[in-house]
Amino acid sequence: MLIAQISDSHILASASDLPAAQLRADCLQRCVADINQQLPDVVVFTGDTVQHGQSEEYARLRELLAPLHVPLYLIPGNRDDNEAMRSAFNDKAYLAESGDFLHYTVEDYPIRLVALDSTLSGERKGRFCPERQAWLNQVLSEQPNRPTLLFIHHPPFDVGDHYIDGYRRPEEATALSDIVTRHPQVVGMLCGHVHWPVERLWGGTSARIMPSIAVDLRKGIDESEALQRPIYMLHRLSNENGFVSEARMVAAGT
Ligand SMILES: [Fe+2]
Repeated sequence: MLIAQISDSHILASASDLPAAQLRADCLQRCVADINQQLPDVVVFTGDTVQHGQSEEYARLRELLAPLHVPLYLIPGNRDDNEAMRSAFNDKAYLAESGDFLHYTVEDYPIRLVALDSTLSGERKGRFCPERQAWLNQVLSEQPNRPTLLFIHHPPFDVGDHYIDGYRRPEEATALSDIVTRHPQVVGMLCGHVHWPVERLWGGTSARIMPSIAVDLRKGIDESEALQRPIYMLHRLSNENGFVSEARMVAAGT
């Protein structure tokens, strides 16, 4: 199974006159074109899709994602607005029409996908409250032998000097780790939020953070040529080779 991951595009409205508006749109557009060439099974989008959670920004986001040829699975980040995202993507049956959270499972592929909503309106930091804990525990308990990949915006661990105490309540990050540890079918976890590429063993599984797709927001890569090239991730999961991830840097002009 081949999974493309994009994250933290922070798209601005078409009418914005900020230079970043066109730059970020270009980054996403180029990645979408390249993803269509790679033909993954799915695309997962790990949040901060837009900058201010505004409907005008989601309208622009929809335009930019429309050319995708493969199924797209969105989760919110702290920059997103759940209601605006629901409204803009009301054709996505996996986004519940009501309720506090935009989390769900995807059962159509060899790897089961579990999307976790770590956001709370108005809060920059991640949340994984007891209600979410109960939901994840139940979902993972239902199919204990099926390889499962989690995706969530906020990584529930510190990342160097850049991202410390990323959850409002550290005990909630610990609870998430405890649940994942109890379910060894979780083969990996995909995150965004820090705009910085990081991988580590966490909760007995491989947690991978991809950098921001937007070159003006990316951290940790300072080669000037690389700065001009948007990045997304390709994750290959197979019985033969396990969980192999590739950072795909999209060439200029594609
Ligand atoms: Fe972000």
